[in-house]
Amino acid sequence: MKKVVLTLAALSLLATAQARTWTDIKKSGTIKIATEGAFPPFNIMKGNVLTGFEVDLANALAKQLGLKVQWVTQPFDNLLIGLKQDRYDFVIASHGITAERLKAVDFTNPHYCTGGAIVTKPGGPMNAAALKGKTVAVQVGTTYLENARKVPGIKDVKTFPKDTDAQAALMAGRVDAWVGDKFTGIDLVKAQKGKVVQGDLLFKERIAMAVNKGNASLLKELNAALAKSMSNGTYTKLSTQYFGTDVRCK
Ligand code: ARG
Repeated sequence: MKKVVLTLAALSLLATAQARTWTDIKKSGTIKIATEGAFPPFNIMKGNVLTGFEVDLANALAKQLGLKVQWVTQPFDNLLIGLKQDRYDFVIASHGITAERLKAVDFTNPHYCTGGAIVTKPGGPMNAAALKGKTVAVQVGTTYLENARKVPGIKDVKTFPKDTDAQAALMAGRVDAWVGDKFTGIDLVKAQKGKVVQGDLLFKERIAMAVNKGNASLLKELNAALAKSMSNGTYTKLSTQYFGTDVRCK
């Protein structure tokens, strides 16, 4: 079967008229939230349970808004497409705010700040200059892909449907490095006990929740709920639980 690749630019042309407004959502009593469920420690399926920092945070925001939650999981690359098709109300899946994505969706205020980091085996490339002539693994549709491609002289950027597959390619020695989230990288280094090391950040990014373009009423409520969680201790508690530190943008 031929895979149809929709660019985000094409996505921005899709109809946006059906997005549920805040009034619609409030009336229904349930908010539909989408994530990937394969990006630890942010959103991950553990057995049958969807968990992670972003899942817990979104559940807390929904509670604050007086809503029940219906979760939907989708491959990362399909998440914004489904949002454009109004299959759910918002997406929380570690999307960095980029100009390209902003053509198709609107972002809330950031719910954390991070960066794309290089992880390699000891002796491997630790910075952009050292990636010259090297092969890296990244998850498809991510800012890691976009930024790795920009590294001067990089030999090959291999894409994987899931971030964990890209990590596995590094562990199996099929690539010289993996580029992924800084916090995911810290966890990988810990879990692999010295078999891999973290190098430089290739870029920094602000991570936010996405609503369909123009859904200003929902955006406003999400921003208010996020701000409240950041001032009443809810956010700090979750962040400390997952990262041992407060990961909000400073
Ligand atoms: N932060 C990166 C981006 O903006 C990666 C996000 C990957 N998220 C996921 N759920 N796999 O593209």
